[in-house]
Amino acid sequence: MKDSPWRQPYLARLTFGEVHNLVDEYIFGQNLRILDVGCGRGWLSLELAREGHDCMGIDSEKDMILSPRKTMESDPYKDERGKPDFQVSDFPQWEHPRDSFDLVIFSRSLHHIPQPSKAVGKAHELLKKNGQIIFIEYAYDRVDKRTATWIYQVRRSLRQSGWYKSRKKLSDNMDKSVGEIMEEYAAPARKEHFNRFEEMHKPLNALFREAHLSWEPYIYWDLIMDMRVPSEDVEMATAHSIMAMETALIEANSINPVLFCFVGLKQPGKS
Ligand SMILES: C[S@@+](CC[C@H](N)C(=O)[O-])C[C@H]1O[C@@H](n2cnc3c(N)ncnc32)[C@H](O)[C@@H]1O
Repeated sequence: MKDSPWRQPYLARLTFGEVHNLVDEYIFGQNLRILDVGCGRGWLSLELAREGHDCMGIDSEKDMILSPRKTMESDPYKDERGKPDFQVSDFPQWEHPRDSFDLVIFSRSLHHIPQPSKAVGKAHELLKKNGQIIFIEYAYDRVDKRTATWIYQVRRSLRQSGWYKSRKKLSDNMDKSVGEIMEEYAAPARKEHFNRFEEMHKPLNALFREAHLSWEPYIYWDLIMDMRVPSEDVEMATAHSIMAMETALIEANSINPVLFCFVGLKQPGKS
């Protein structure tokens, strides 16, 4: 946890908390049956259960769901909440009755899943009639030169303040560093075969009626993970201003956003 935004509550609120806010904007109705695909450590499922929904989190990594299971079992208020549940499975292989859920959420998980059209098809099959999908996904292929140049500028100003605490190289030669940053984003994505934006968006568009599509700030997650500011107040203010800067640059079309939020309604007769 020491290198993740969970290391400080104000950083967790600014990152995971913002994903939760975004999801909440598109949840219509109460006591829904929700599926959280690639739930990781289950924080979103637990939050949605606190709001009264029955939320099933599924993840392919057994270790991921140990801590939310423990939280769920030791919760003194569990009778007042929706029912969370956690299962381990590779999502496309998961066996579960069709037409079971009101809402399926993918939060930053589909880019990892090979053959995204299969996973999207599976979500379609598991949704009830008029069911809804919320996708919040990272599209690595959108990190272009302008975006890498902004990352470089922020890292440099953090370094000048003595707050850049990453092992990632940062040369004084801007062109060299920008090239390295582009490679830094592309290499793990290539190695782990992350899905590109179009590979994820195409099946969504085919099976769901698009109700909403937006691009959201996300690079600030990486930037704030690379910084350590001695004063908590200053760290919080700096993290907020990096996020605000990314939002403004996206609005001005000066950098490419990398996180998209798609909300869609199940189109009948497609699975
Ligand atoms: C970046 S984490 C996101 C976790 C969480 N949804 C969040 O937003 O913080 C991606 C998660 O997807 C899970 N995952 C990857 N491939 C999967 C698959 N085929 N089936 C189910 N889960 C998968 C990983 O184990 C990991 O926990």
